[in-house]
Amino acid sequence: MNYTTDCLIIGSGAAGLTLALGIAKKAKVIVLSKADVCAGSTNYAQGGIAGVYNIKDDQDSIENHVKDTCIAGSFICDEKVVRYVAEHAQESIQWLIDAGVPFDQKEEPAKKDQSPYHLHREGGHSNRRIFHAEDHTGRSIQETLVARAKENPNITILEDRYAIDLITTKKLNLPGNRVLGAYVLNEKSDHVETIKARYVALCSGGASKVYQYTCNPEVSSGDGIAMAWRAGCRVANMEFNQFHPTTLYNAADRNFLLTEALRGEGATLERKDGTRFMPEYDERCELAPRDIVARAIDHEMKKTGADCMYLNISHKPADFVKKHFPTIYERCLKVGIDITKQPIPIVPAAHFSCGGVMVDNKGRTDIQGLYAIGEVAYTGLHGANRLASNSLLECVVYGQAAAKNMLKHLDDDEWGDDGIEIPAWDESRVSDSDEEVIITHNWHELRLMMWDYVGIVRTNKRLERAMHRINLLKNEVTEYYSNFKVSKNLLELRNLLQVAEIIVRSAQERKESRGLHYSLDYPNQLEHSGPTILSKDCIDK
Ligand code: FAD
Ligand code: SIN
Repeated sequence: MNYTTDCLIIGSGAAGLTLALGIAKKAKVIVLSKADVCAGSTNYAQGGIAGVYNIKDDQDSIENHVKDTCIAGSFICDEKVVRYVAEHAQESIQWLIDAGVPFDQKEEPAKKDQSPYHLHREGGHSNRRIFHAEDHTGRSIQETLVARAKENPNITILEDRYAIDLITTKKLNLPGNRVLGAYVLNEKSDHVETIKARYVALCSGGASKVYQYTCNPEVSSGDGIAMAWRAGCRVANMEFNQFHPTTLYNAADRNFLLTEALRGEGATLERKDGTRFMPEYDERCELAPRDIVARAIDHEMKKTGADCMYLNISHKPADFVKKHFPTIYERCLKVGIDITKQPIPIVPAAHFSCGGVMVDNKGRTDIQGLYAIGEVAYTGLHGANRLASNSLLECVVYGQAAAKNMLKHLDDDEWGDDGIEIPAWDESRVSDSDEEVIITHNWHELRLMMWDYVGIVRTNKRLERAMHRINLLKNEVTEYYSNFKVSKNLLELRNLLQVAEIIVRSAQERKESRGLHYSLDYPNQLEHSGPTILSKDCIDK
């Protein structure tokens, strides 16, 4: 079945649904998810959403939020963007509250001029400013926004729909470069559908699945970044993939996230013998920004040959731990760890793509009519390392900014029915796959190679090795893609390879260590630096 709509949104997380709810006031919207509607990272977010809510509270200020974000980002954030986002935090959090998100409130009534909300503190934040719903903030946001979207007659949610590629005037050899829609694999019918739209928004999340160990869900395979790249958009800062310092190390349940809010409430990082090590690395100890903490853990593991380090909150009263971190308490108990009594074994894992498709302050990409919002985008907010809990905030702030911008232009006649006929997906020259093993093998090889060569600590030699392997794998997969019918696994592998190539190229461009990019060959930080911007056109030349 083919569709025509005003706005096609690829992704149903915080970014996609905020945009959908904004634009559906006036326009018809189709929202796609390549799995179920709650499959994205949003649903798994624990810590919360950062924001200075009550500016009369002299403990905190928007200025502090701006400063903390720029420090965590190793001073290559775009300060105008940081200020814009910090200034819009209160409005965005209020919008979520009005939509029905049940953020935790203080136990005792708030004093006059004080926020009634209970706030957490996380690494890199100089104050408590994290709004949260216990330790499952993401689930509460996701469920609330899905409920609001399902009530809205202008929004159609299509699940199990895998966007393969964007359709643009350039690809159809027409003048200009405007988006026209997308080809989408309907996994239920196994057919490729065409969705024609005046606007398309990539809200497809990050790319952490390119690494062997990640706390991200299955869907985070960088599809939006790869699609935008193939269509001719610039991407920026892809070398900065964030590794979360503390995910569960357990054979039965590896990579479950242990929120930074645990450290905000006093949890300590320890060696096996119970000694703390963070004071040896940074004066902010366990509350240093994430890049520093993840590197310290990695260093300790390599130095001592240990498989993991430990996170310990057992010194806090058991009732306090169970009340604030019920999901983590239950999940650890299931694998035999009582966090109120014993330390939790932890390892770092790939968590967040700080770079992405370059957009302006309305979420617009280089292609007319194409937007990118949320983790898929590079706005300039995160610099070389994202400050905790700024991602959900970015999704909402930019989702709203993009919706306003689309609404403003929707009445323009400019793009009325342009009469452009979009050709159907051509499967006439391909057959059913005969060697699925090529996909599974290459998939494992790529992710392990990225973990080993392009992880927390990098060298020129490792990056060269990685690029060499990527080129070989890319040739195999490109050939496979030309000859066989598309499947979800094949599409994902093709996109992961594309993203891996961009990450390695970006890492090779940066001749310094900054934030999440740490190179043994360039251990120092340059005095002047900026984002790494890549475009397909300049690489193809
Ligand atoms: P997502 O929520 O990831 O949604 C992506 C959507 O795109 C999904 O619907 C997916 O199905 C769809 N999709 C992807 N590719 C395709 C395709 N080809 N075709 C169709 N659909 C597609 N951030 C914070 O600010 N605070 C936190 O406390 C926090 N905790 C986190 C905890 C965990 C475990 C993780 C993994 C992340 C956490 N983050 C947190 C980061 C934050 O959750 C994400 O950056 C944010 O939710 C991304 O939202 P999004 O809407 O951009 O994408
Ligand atoms: C966490 O809860 O530690 C994750 C927060 C984030 O990624 O912003």
